[in-house]
Amino acid sequence: MRVGMLTGGGDCPGLNAVIRAVVRKGEVRYGDDFVGFRDGWRGVLERLTMPLDVEACRGILPRGGTILGSSRTNPYKVDGGPERCRATLAELGVDALIAIGGEDTLGVADKLGAEGVAVVGIPKTIDNDLSATDVTFGFHTAVQICVDAIDRLHTTAESHDRVIVCEVMGRHAGWIATYAGIAGGAAEVLVPEEPFDIETVCENLTRRHAKGRFASVVVVAEGATPQEGTLAVASQEVDAFGHARLGGIGNLLAGEIERRTGFETRVTILGHVQRGGTPTAFDRVLATRYGLAAIDCVHDGAFGQMVALHGGDIVRVPLSAAVAELKTVDPHLVEVAEVFYG
Ligand code: F6P
Repeated sequence: MRVGMLTGGGDCPGLNAVIRAVVRKGEVRYGDDFVGFRDGWRGVLERLTMPLDVEACRGILPRGGTILGSSRTNPYKVDGGPERCRATLAELGVDALIAIGGEDTLGVADKLGAEGVAVVGIPKTIDNDLSATDVTFGFHTAVQICVDAIDRLHTTAESHDRVIVCEVMGRHAGWIATYAGIAGGAAEVLVPEEPFDIETVCENLTRRHAKGRFASVVVVAEGATPQEGTLAVASQEVDAFGHARLGGIGNLLAGEIERRTGFETRVTILGHVQRGGTPTAFDRVLATRYGLAAIDCVHDGAFGQMVALHGGDIVRVPLSAAVAELKTVDPHLVEVAEVFYG
């Protein structure tokens, strides 16, 4: 078969491991040939392709980023976009398309699938906010990067007896913040799922410091919001999928903590460091398993499906189930972090 492949949305560690796995099994086991679409859906829309075979995948397993490039292009926001995508696939003789992405990329895949495109999805995102799978690859690496950073922030915070606010990504889900906060021993973890009360945050910090503890690290998810009417947050611009460009809540929070508690406070926004560099072994293995399962879907004619992790098993789920709603943090996990506040 002639199989197209693309990586869309924010990149994450493990994308190259998936690409390598799909191509390896496709070429060697099934005799497929591949068309690499550049920069996510933009490649399909504008017919931007690159050669993709086992040779092109040599040495990419440990490399972060994606050899295919990525973008946040939404064909459904472009005049005649879906038609142009279908025309590209037909002209290039692509029998099936593997889309590797998060909510947005797979949302487009789901819609094109409903319009007759033979498509299979693979879940990726550092945010871990996709339903229908236990975990997306990229998440584990991002959490580890955050924990390494938090460990470092602890020692400098201790030297100066400071509060350090560490802002992490995750969009509207607090998975990264919660995992990194628990593993990094955060004094406080603020997530989008539970708007925070700045008074309570400051009381907890004051109580902690009164007990003789000092040097608190507060982990805040970029999508965390203050309880209504408490603090004014600046509005943000939106992307082609209607998502606000987040980032900066840490600055507001640090300023308020210092003003209200009198503790010297600094802020570190980890930003795109969380998406860069080499994937952890866990993400490499998960990505490889997803890739092999996706090319099997193609040959079984299991279109409109996404590969997913359920327990320890790789299974197939409808793409529509994966993109129907955001997977937010389990409140029980937030309770684990809370035990260590104050
Ligand atoms: O979805 C992954 C993610 O890293 C989010 O955590 C973050 O809000 C967003 O992408 C950043 O997007 P960009 O790289 O386009 O600035």
